Amino acid sequence: MNDRSLRITCAVGALIFSSVCLCATGEEPEWPIIPKPLSVTRSAGSFLIGDNTDIIAGPNAGKASSYLAQRLRKASGYAIPIREWESDDGLSTRIALRLGSPLTPDRPFDPGREGYRLTVSRTRIDITAAYPAGLFYGVQTLLQLLPPQVYSNNAGALRMDELLLPLVEVTDRPRFGWRGLMIDVSRHFFSKEQLKKTIDAMAVHKLNVLHLHLTDDPGWRIEIEKYPRLTTVGAIGDRTNPEGPERWYFSKEDIREIVEHAARHHIMVVPEIDMPGHSMAAARAYPQFFDGHRTFNPANAETYEFVKDVLVEVMELFPSGYLHFGGDEVRDHRWADIPGIRTFMEENGYTDLKEVEGHFDRFVADFIVEKGYTPIGWDDIVEFEINPNTIVQWWLHLRPEARDHAVRKGHRVIISPTNYLYFDYPNGPGEPGAPWEGNDNGPNSFELIHQWEPVPDTYSQEEESRIMGLQANLWTEFVKTNEYYEYMIFPRLSALAEIAWSPKGAKDLDNFKKRLHVQCQRYEAMGLNYRVFGDWPSDFSYLTH
Ligand code: ACM
Repeated sequence: MNDRSLRITCAVGALIFSSVCLCATGEEPEWPIIPKPLSVTRSAGSFLIGDNTDIIAGPNAGKASSYLAQRLRKASGYAIPIREWESDDGLSTRIALRLGSPLTPDRPFDPGREGYRLTVSRTRIDITAAYPAGLFYGVQTLLQLLPPQVYSNNAGALRMDELLLPLVEVTDRPRFGWRGLMIDVSRHFFSKEQLKKTIDAMAVHKLNVLHLHLTDDPGWRIEIEKYPRLTTVGAIGDRTNPEGPERWYFSKEDIREIVEHAARHHIMVVPEIDMPGHSMAAARAYPQFFDGHRTFNPANAETYEFVKDVLVEVMELFPSGYLHFGGDEVRDHRWADIPGIRTFMEENGYTDLKEVEGHFDRFVADFIVEKGYTPIGWDDIVEFEINPNTIVQWWLHLRPEARDHAVRKGHRVIISPTNYLYFDYPNGPGEPGAPWEGNDNGPNSFELIHQWEPVPDTYSQEEESRIMGLQANLWTEFVKTNEYYEYMIFPRLSALAEIAWSPKGAKDLDNFKKRLHVQCQRYEAMGLNYRVFGDWPSDFSYLTH
């Protein structure tokens, strides 16, 4: 283990918590909420959640209400009752969650799909939002007004007299609609329990997309009934032990469990089936559809039937409406040697194998659109004329022209460049992480991420509107253990959440760091490993062995 004594003491949090009632309005908020809300106004006084407090839930407020009740019960043991909206007398000590317009004549505010208004007064707490997701995020902010131990599952973590809230009015909504994290479960597999723990932590950060990189060369990690060898053969081993003997994959039941858990936290799960490259695991299982190496055989008509069958089964499991088909790094294919390739090219009027790659990508994107889903591909696909509904995920920061080209062609774009948002890259000098290309801007520290403006200032308003949001990616070539995984994600996830949610503009790093100290206590309460900042241990061997 790393040196826990270096971890943050309660002092910072206690200082911030005790100073709250004295603070005037209008200054930079000291309240340790991450991501920082659009507006926080405080006034003197406090509200104590006591054993006469209940929750009243309007229609469609059930999910947010039960999440709040569960959190309070798990951390403090207090089983706060949830009542129907009709029982609201408008007066007594209540936490009222309802859908409606959070607009008041003196303070116009458009909450969008995910915004909310949270008001803590002396007698009651109100959370109002236009949609259920907003109520859920209002609850997250409410919890961050309580001590960090509110995120603990140990019922003794908080005493009842610690359920004390400052009087505040928060109006809040996200800057971007897509706030994501990708986990590569192919190179090293991570269990559904670890993914659920990740989802819990994402929810605290108001993130809303979990992208699962389910297939790649080292392993195929999702059950497909029509092609059982994908898991009886393709799921054997990982990057460390390619020969197995273990098999690692999610059954359909596992996937449903993960998707349901995510949905309870307003997080959608987006599957990625990477093709036509990065497919060695599937090629081991069904070589007849591949090029003798790691790439699909585009000249075989049966390949396309295989692709369709697999994608249909995948779509059935993921109601998100998005399907990522990869499309990246189709570099070392062996297409020139496969039988039938010349005929295939002649029939289609192609003179270059690059056009064959475009053919394959177009087929897959069109098929996904035909099925009513939205395709996503890594930015390599912008070389081709591809279905305009396809979302392009920009990853190689050395190739900004791919991002710009996609935006100008009218594609929607997710920003996740190697610099800044590859969480497999080191946090700091000399720290563990991937040594790949494109990491020429120093480590991807949380400071670097926090200070970064992800949209080029040369973009027109229309171009900017095509940027759906931001996503960090945890590739796992080197990440083998849950501890290492969490170390790479936290606290960088907090910086990601802040730039994805909080308004564009000046970024006060010192203020963020103060809030981050408290966030680290929340990580502790959630049982997460994280990279300590300030002084940190120089012995990382516990991560990589
Ligand atoms: C990628 O990192 N190959 C998308």
